[in-house]
Order: sequence, then C-alpha cells, then structure tokens
Amino acid sequence: MSASPATVSPVKVSLTGIKPTGEPHLGNYVGAVKPALQLVREHEALYFIADYHALTTVRDPDLLRHYTRSVAATWIAAGLDPDRVVVYRQSDVPEIFELNWVMACMAGKGLMNRAHAYKAARDRNQEAGRVDADAGINMGLYNYPVLMAVDILIMEADVVPVGRDQTQHVEIAADIAGSFNHVYGETYRFKIPQAVVPAGETGHTLPGLDGRKMSKSYDNTIPLFCGEAQLKKLVRRIPTDSTPVAEPKDPDASHVFQILEQFAAPEVVADTRLRLQAGGMGWGELKNQLFEVLNAQLSPMRERYDALLEPDSPLDGMLAAGAEKARKRAIPVLAQVRRAIGVA
Ligand code: TRP
Repeated sequence: MSASPATVSPVKVSLTGIKPTGEPHLGNYVGAVKPALQLVREHEALYFIADYHALTTVRDPDLLRHYTRSVAATWIAAGLDPDRVVVYRQSDVPEIFELNWVMACMAGKGLMNRAHAYKAARDRNQEAGRVDADAGINMGLYNYPVLMAVDILIMEADVVPVGRDQTQHVEIAADIAGSFNHVYGETYRFKIPQAVVPAGETGHTLPGLDGRKMSKSYDNTIPLFCGEAQLKKLVRRIPTDSTPVAEPKDPDASHVFQILEQFAAPEVVADTRLRLQAGGMGWGELKNQLFEVLNAQLSPMRERYDALLEPDSPLDGMLAAGAEKARKRAIPVLAQVRRAIGVA
C-alpha cells in the first residue's frame, strides 16, 4: 500500500471554511479571522469560501458574488498571504461536487436528521404550529453536513478550526469518512479530521451594540470595514450606565472595555482598567479611546480591503491561483475514490 505524502508529512493540514452570508464584523475578526491567521505558523493552512453552502440561504446572485469576494478580501487584507497558503472558492473545485454524491451514499439519513441546523429548522416549524415540520426546508440545508464533510475530506485535513456550533458537523465528517473506510479502506482510506475550537470561542465573545453577543442575526454588529465616521458613530452607540465620570467603575462589566481588551495593547488595557476602577475616566473618554484604537488598527486593513474589492483588482487572480492549488490536492483523492468504489 502506498501512503500519500500528506499522510507521512509531520506538518498537519488545517482547513478553515467560511460561509459568505454577510459583511465581516468585529466579532468575526476576533472570533474567527484572527485565530485562523495564527494557523499558518504550525500548519499547512488552507482557507476556502463556502459559496455553495451559502446558496442554502443567499438567493441574490449579486449579493452572493459580493459576499464571496468580501470574505476573500477580508482574509487577505487581514494578513493572509495567498502565496504562502491556499485560498480558494469551493465552487472552483468541481471535484468536491462529484465526491459529494459518493459521500451522500455513505451517509446515514438518520445522521442527517440529527444534524443541528436541520433540527433547529424543524423545531422552529413545530413551534410555529405548522403541520409540515419540513416546511420551507430545502435539500441543501438537509445535505449541508455531507457537503461540509467533503470539503474537509477531499483536502485531507487533519484539523478543522470551527466555532462551537460547527463541531457537530466535523464529527459527522469523521463519521462519514469512517463509513467509507469501513467498506473501501483496503483501497483508499480518508484521513479522520478533528475539530478544534479557537481560544476566542471558548471564553468570552465580543459584545455587540446591544450588549448581546455580536452577531449578524441580532443585527447588533460593528462592520469591520465601515468608514471612520460610521465607526465613531457606532462606538458611541454601545450602551453604558449612568455612573458619573469621577466614580469608580467595574471595567469587566463594561461592553466598551470588553471590546477594547480584544484590540488594544496589554499595557493600554491595564492602564485603562486602573483608571476606570479609580474613578479617573468617564464612559465618553473610554469610547473615544476605543474608537482611536480600532481606527488605528483597522484603517490600513480597510484600505487594502477596499482596493481588493475593486472590480479589476488582483483578488480574482489570487482566487484562481488558489483554486488551482486546491484542485491539485482534490484530483488525486477523487481519482482514488473512483477506483475504490468501482467507477474507474
Ligand atoms: N459550516 C461552516 C459555517 O457555517 C462553513 C463551512 C463549510 C466549513 N464547509 C466547511 C467550515 C468545512 C470548516 C470546514 O461556519
């Protein structure tokens, strides 16, 4: 039996997938973008934009195109070097969709019934008193975990950094890979992937404009690349209590401070903490400070992002080059699978 080079390589392969369903916000940056950028240090790191996954909900072609480029531009603006890592669009790798069928045939229907996104959609129907619990649910949502499993397996990923809500999907991928290996393992074995939850996801999450977790679904986000004036306005909107300037304040109970903590240098955070506790700083000043810190960090990124989003920017060429690298990994895997199952 021949082992593929990826199997014997000591460097683990990581795969990060992002569904393009909205504009990036500060919470995405802290919870997903920053931790995933660190992967480059210790992994052979792959990043892709799951545009076909977005099709389960995004039905406006211009919007899907825009969100897809926006996600890619965000990663590159934030520091991902497309020459050193692989950045690609899912839809540019047709091998994924052929393998999708094969793996659907390995996946138990009951397993899909238990997948949380589908279950949640059914629960919502039941709570709304609808007779058909599957009303409005498309097969894309139902098959979502199979396609995601294929994303992971076809790239022979060892580790998949995901938010808590996605760990079940990675377990399903491992499960489906196991089913395949059980039947065809003599000829080809998929690598069994593992989910890793980035540190930022385990503890605190970034609060949004209403104090709840910053999330697109709560409509409480600060866009990562909004203009300076907008950024200032939104920071001012973060709720604070009415403690007077000269009174001691609890920094950890302040949403403004919690955001500052994620962006400012540790000395600055420590100094601000002391001043708030001593009653030497009001909320207005804290907000100004947060704005300055955010703007200093984000404006160079914003410039790169805006340039990449231009219609004729190098972005599309970068994605095309990334797709080529990704297909170099996917093609031999699919060829072995085809041989193993008996269609080649
Ligand atoms: N389901 C993931 C999300 O919604 C996106 C995704 C699709 C993904 N395929 C993937 C993540 C493969 C990691 C690996 O966030």
